[in-house]
Formats: sequence, C-alpha cells, structure tokens
Amino acid sequence: MQDALELLTTRRSFKAIELAAPGPSAAEIDTLLTIASRVPDHGKLAPWRFIVFEGKARHAAGAIIAAAFRAKYPDAKPEHVEAERQRLARAPLVVAVVSRAAPHVKIPEWEQVLSAGAVAMSLVLAAHALGYGANWITEWYAYDRAVVDAFGLAPHERIAGFVHIGSPPGVPEDRPRPKLDEITTRFPA
Ligand SMILES: Cc1cc2nc3c(=O)[nH]c(=O)nc-3n(C[C@H](O)[C@H](O)[C@H](O)COP(=O)(O)O)c2cc1C
Repeated sequence: MQDALELLTTRRSFKAIELAAPGPSAAEIDTLLTIASRVPDHGKLAPWRFIVFEGKARHAAGAIIAAAFRAKYPDAKPEHVEAERQRLARAPLVVAVVSRAAPHVKIPEWEQVLSAGAVAMSLVLAAHALGYGANWITEWYAYDRAVVDAFGLAPHERIAGFVHIGSPPGVPEDRPRPKLDEITTRFPA
C-alpha cells in the first residue's frame, strides 16, 4: 500500500509534446482501459466510452482537426494549420474519454458526467502506474462539433478528455497544490 501512496503522491502531468515513443503495448492498452472502466458508476450505466487513436489513425484524426481549423480561420497561416494537423500525433497514444451522459429516470445526468471524470483520472493514474506519462486535455477541438461528429460522437455525447499517453522525459517537477485549510472546513463551521 505504501507503493500505492507513493504513486498517488508523485503523479504529475507532462505536456503532450513531451510524451515520446514507445507508447503502451496492445496488452498495456487493455490494462489501461480495464482499470479506467472500473470506476464508481451510479446505476451501472457505463455512461462513457473510449476512442483509441494510435499510429497512422492519429494523422487521419489530425487531418479532421486541421480541416475544422481552416474552416473556422480561412486566413490561417499554413504553419498554424500544420500544427493543428499534429494535435493528436504528439504522444504515441491518445485515448478520448467520451461522456455518454443522458437524461435518465433515476440517475442524475450530473452523476454520469462525474463518472466520466473518474474514468479519465483512473486512466491517467493507470498510465503512471505502468511507468508512462499522461496529460488529460480537451483543447478547442473537443468542443468543435464538426470534429467530434467526424470522430463518431452521437449528438448527446461529449469529450471528457483526450488523454495523451507516452514515455515521460523524466521526473516532473511538482507545482503548488491547494492548501488544505483553504479548501476544507469542518461541519459545523
Ligand atoms: C477536463 C479537463 C480538461 C483539461 N484541458 C486542458 C487543456 O485543454 N489544456 C491544458 O493545458 N490543460 C488542460 N487540463 C489540465 C491538465 O490536465 C492538468 O491538470 C495540468 O496540466 C496539470 O495538472 P497536474 O499537475 O495535477 O498533473 C485539463 C484538465 C481537465 C480536468
């Protein structure tokens, strides 16, 4: 259990661009997704799913992002469009966590959304446990309907995160964390 605490207290994001090859193997991806999908989920709805971007598929996805960018900014410089094309090709593996939250007779939609957040967080932690670095980001294209439609999202589905995973460049420096006494009270106040 000491190892688990060490793992939880040392996790830190890397920039997507810092995450290099090799990425997780097929068996490791299975492990990552298995861990990520065993989260608290009120009503056992599994109100989330994954889309895996690997290898050449990352470039095909990048072409979709670049086309959407060009449509929004017709005067964009070619180098900016090119940077957009590389969005999902920075890390060797990108897993989109898709929220499928929808109105339900008993389970509030809010709780379904929270469960998708738990999935993304478990994925990040599992990557760390396997020795990989990760970055949970959304960026503009997560909110672009043309892009997510092309990625196969149904109209009610939303991107909870594009979790970028790869080999980390080293040990990350930590950042200041919230002071517990500023975010914690005891009841009654
Ligand atoms: C839902 C969600 C979306 C995020 N999207 C972005 C993003 O688009 N760009 C970004 O730089 N960081 C984004 N972040 C922040 C990073 O994941 C991460 O919190 C930050 O880089 C450092 O966190 P850490 O020091 O705890 O690892 C997002 C975080 C969450 C929870």
